[in-house]
Amino acid sequence: MANHSNIGKSNKLNPKIWSHTARRENGEISIGGISVTTLAQKYGTPSFILDQEDFAMRARQWRSSLHEHFGAHAGTAYYAAKSFISQDVARWIAELGLGLDVCTGGELAVARAAEFPADRIEMHGNNKSEKEIEEAIDYRVGTIVLDSLQEIDRVARIAHKKGVVQKVFIRLTPGVHAHTHEAISTAHEDVKFGFSIASGAAWDAVLATVRHESLQLRGFHAHIGSQIFATDAYESAAERLIEFLARFKSEFGYELPELNLGGGYGIAYVDSDDPISSNHAMKKLSSVVTKSCQKYGIEIPEISIEPGRAIVGPSMTTLYEVGTTKEVTLEDGSHRWYISVDGGMSDNIRTGLYDAEYSIVMANRESNAPLRRCRIVGKHCETGDIIIKDVQLPGDIAPGDLLAVPATGAYGRSMASNYNHMTRPPVISVLNQRARTMIRRETYADLLALEVDDE
Ligand code: LLP
Repeated sequence: MANHSNIGKSNKLNPKIWSHTARRENGEISIGGISVTTLAQKYGTPSFILDQEDFAMRARQWRSSLHEHFGAHAGTAYYAAKSFISQDVARWIAELGLGLDVCTGGELAVARAAEFPADRIEMHGNNKSEKEIEEAIDYRVGTIVLDSLQEIDRVARIAHKKGVVQKVFIRLTPGVHAHTHEAISTAHEDVKFGFSIASGAAWDAVLATVRHESLQLRGFHAHIGSQIFATDAYESAAERLIEFLARFKSEFGYELPELNLGGGYGIAYVDSDDPISSNHAMKKLSSVVTKSCQKYGIEIPEISIEPGRAIVGPSMTTLYEVGTTKEVTLEDGSHRWYISVDGGMSDNIRTGLYDAEYSIVMANRESNAPLRRCRIVGKHCETGDIIIKDVQLPGDIAPGDLLAVPATGAYGRSMASNYNHMTRPPVISVLNQRARTMIRRETYADLLALEVDDE
């Protein structure tokens, strides 16, 4: 059904959502000073376009907000590698003075290949293998975050064997409900992560850790969830962790020097999203940390954070080409226009998995054609292969047009799959009118290469 009311709006780029250098000029979108048509011709579609200036700006902002508000008590701003990592990104993060949160041997392998400074790496994971622990200790990572009683003994044994005293944190579940999708909420009681404060498991973990001479307990960690807009859950978590630090002091007579309050800061995907700035987030945290430390009578510890999405999320845009369009009549007699693009759930599983919402615009040209009710779908053999469930777009979109979905940097390429033997898209970085392939597009040969002939 045609809609004349919002014509023009569908062409606009909301700066809250788009990467810093994205512009629409003469109808066409450019990022990093390069037009989408040029990018699509040179690198094909679908492609992730990474705005390098935007990435660096956000990484700097999170680090400097931490330092500005915590002053001498600022620890490390760790970039969460799970949101998106490559050797280039690891090198940028190192140069920008951030640390790196890795949670598997694979992420650690990227950090090692990029020669990321070991003392600025923290190793996460709720089920690290012996091999992963060995690799982390061999590389001399700064900290390992302990997540189970078995792991406390494993890390202690491996560190002892290697003659290392390993700095460790204990991951705690402070019993806080963050307002986000259940699958990405991590600090209420019924989760696989960390040790619950309320049940006493956290204290058992402390006792199990301090008896090992090969472990040096530095403090506690909590990550309450992801894509969070309000600061209240962070504040409650910080207060509960500080109360727990105070308990440690009263039992052991000395204070632990650090707290890591995790990541999870939300970004805008659609116009109605209202994320908090790094400045506001750190200001609020610092105020609650100061007050809680006064209340419980302890020194202010060194505070670290682990943003991933808030740094890389808005930096990337996915470019797709339209392949087919189809009008479907719904039960109530209204119409929906299905627009199929050349990617789908293999490059963006977030809509299917979390009901995530995204924005989308026609990127190669502007149009003032009446809007139509659209659903943007991929090319997978699956009804749930949806990128955007419901969006109003110009009714003249046709095969060959380019569509751009902003804010796909976090958990986009990093959660991409080869479902239906799709080849995963490349990541192209753009900076000052220059583009470069950071990660190349997979080929059929890559897909076939894993199959083993008779041995
Ligand atoms: N620290 C820890 C211990 C984490 O588990 C995570 C994310 C982060 C930091 C970074 O969170 P961020 O700042 O990026 O929100 N795949 C889901 C998100 C899963 C997040 C897992 N942990 C999504 O696409 O929304």
